Amino acid sequence: MCGIVGYIGHREAYPIVIKGLKRLEYRGYDSAGVMLFDNETGVKLCKTKGKVSDLEAKAKDNLATNGTIGIGHTRWATHGVPNDVNSHPHLSNSGELVIIHNGIIENYAPLKEELIKRGYTFKSDTDTEVLVNLIEEVQKNENIKLGKAVQIALNQVVGAYAIAVFDKKNPDEIVAARLGSPLAIGVGDGEYFVASDASPFIEYTSNAIYLEDGEMANIRLHKPLKVRKIKDDSLVDPYIQELQMNLEQIEKGGYDHFMLKEIYEQPSVIKDTYRGRLHANEGIVQMAGVEDNLEKFLNAKRILIVACGTSWHAGLVAEYIFEEFTRIPVEVEYASEFRYRNPIINKDDVVIAISQSGETADTMAAIKLAKENGAFVFGVCNVVGSSISRESHAGAYTHAGPEIGVASTKAFTTQITVLTMIALRLGKAKGTLSNTDFHTYLQELEIIPEKVAEALETNDRAKEIAAAFKDAPNCLYLGRGYNFPVALEGALKLKEISYIHAEGYPAAEMKHGPIALIDEHMPVIVIAPKQGHYDKIVSNIQEIKSRSGKIIAVVTKGDTQVRELADYVIEIPETSDALSPLITTIPLQLLSYYIAVMRGCNVDQPRNLAKSVTVE
Ligand code: F6R
Repeated sequence: MCGIVGYIGHREAYPIVIKGLKRLEYRGYDSAGVMLFDNETGVKLCKTKGKVSDLEAKAKDNLATNGTIGIGHTRWATHGVPNDVNSHPHLSNSGELVIIHNGIIENYAPLKEELIKRGYTFKSDTDTEVLVNLIEEVQKNENIKLGKAVQIALNQVVGAYAIAVFDKKNPDEIVAARLGSPLAIGVGDGEYFVASDASPFIEYTSNAIYLEDGEMANIRLHKPLKVRKIKDDSLVDPYIQELQMNLEQIEKGGYDHFMLKEIYEQPSVIKDTYRGRLHANEGIVQMAGVEDNLEKFLNAKRILIVACGTSWHAGLVAEYIFEEFTRIPVEVEYASEFRYRNPIINKDDVVIAISQSGETADTMAAIKLAKENGAFVFGVCNVVGSSISRESHAGAYTHAGPEIGVASTKAFTTQITVLTMIALRLGKAKGTLSNTDFHTYLQELEIIPEKVAEALETNDRAKEIAAAFKDAPNCLYLGRGYNFPVALEGALKLKEISYIHAEGYPAAEMKHGPIALIDEHMPVIVIAPKQGHYDKIVSNIQEIKSRSGKIIAVVTKGDTQVRELADYVIEIPETSDALSPLITTIPLQLLSYYIAVMRGCNVDQPRNLAKSVTVE
């Protein structure tokens, strides 16, 4: 969480930093700030509570400099409320060092106490201000350059960080470091960029270095970049990676919101995800990471899936698919619970970690624990080169492209696509899936993008239903089997972007409690495609109807039975039960989107959330 950007080069830094912060705003948007430097005006700071647009407005009157060095920050508050003072950048007591930080310094309290004893004073409540003063104290005592002081200070710190530090005594340099929070360095022609991800510099350079955990970089103007290990000072040969991302992917492309754009991208990104891996006519489904480790998968006594949020829901869908296709027992765990509950992990377990960002701290910790216990870890990530993808033994990327809307949409469907392909491959190899079923599923998965496109035609219907229910204080989502996790995901989407309280339940569980909530004011969204437990869900719908609940049903095209009972139906194309989550989830995403828009909510940046949760 929190986004950081830095620039050192020959261009005016302010526009680069501001534009970069806007692109990173998905990482946090409580407050924002920028520091610029030029030799005439020195260090200029501007920061404010609120969004990057508020910072821009404030900077107009307060930041008259066209310096070519700058750092900026967009914050997701951890220590200290979001206000102007707690915003980054933070200055050291002398005013000479300036820092931006993403992460948490866990031992900030004793460090702060010690610094106070030595005469330091603190303006903010942040752990970051402690760190910049610790660096200053080290630099003062040892009479050393910034890079060395940062290194010594970081060796005293417990926690997670991605930082960029500037010293006005030596203004041709930015020192950057990471542990547990992502940091990319863009390498241009006579210029460098530092950022939480590559989006702030993609139009200037496609050459990037992703710092590894425990590495720091001295970024100096007109000098080669030096990367070293924080712990032992050993030099590292930095690997310069050619970025695959393009500008178009990170812009709205005519849509009102990133979320809507990303919902509409699903047919093409599902195709991108299976392209080259799935060849239905030849009966082939293969992914390098799976092929290279096929024995491990086939010998697995158990598959453990660890993830958070929407990725956890994709894991739940995968549980149904894996057990059906491969007969390997599957357990799906919240990564945050897994890491703290002394779980039983065996050497012959395969652990699948699912993460869009590849940076989620809890998921990362869960896979480290699994590795320590000898399990084989397979990552399903979207962000190429992300921490989880690197920490895993092997993996398969989803090819969803950058997901910028904070509410996850296309990541979910592409994760299910990858997981389905793995299950198909294993089911075939183990012989637990019949040849006929294997070929039928391959054919079906290949044409899923067309069906997703057809499901997107429910857009107007979703808008109409949204208008009818936008003021509901609560909502219930029900589904069975493969569509139970879709009910959970539908409820999560609604609550996170519209702030309407929503719950997802297995439809049959309703009578064990939630049915008490049903009256004429309660909208109940029921996922009721023709396949699966249709008759059972029709009975559940009847139970809701007889208690006057308002029924919105997602049904297969041509359905008549549910239509008679429901207040509203949304028709989707037919597909098999196992693949239906890829289709049923689409109208639920649209419904949440339109309800949030109609309630005037900030769809792409819902309150209190951030796109990648790099704190535990
Ligand atoms: C919900 C959402 C979150 C994430 C969760 C895990 O729309 O986006 O619930 O799914 O924070 O994030 P990743 O997948 O990046 O590990």
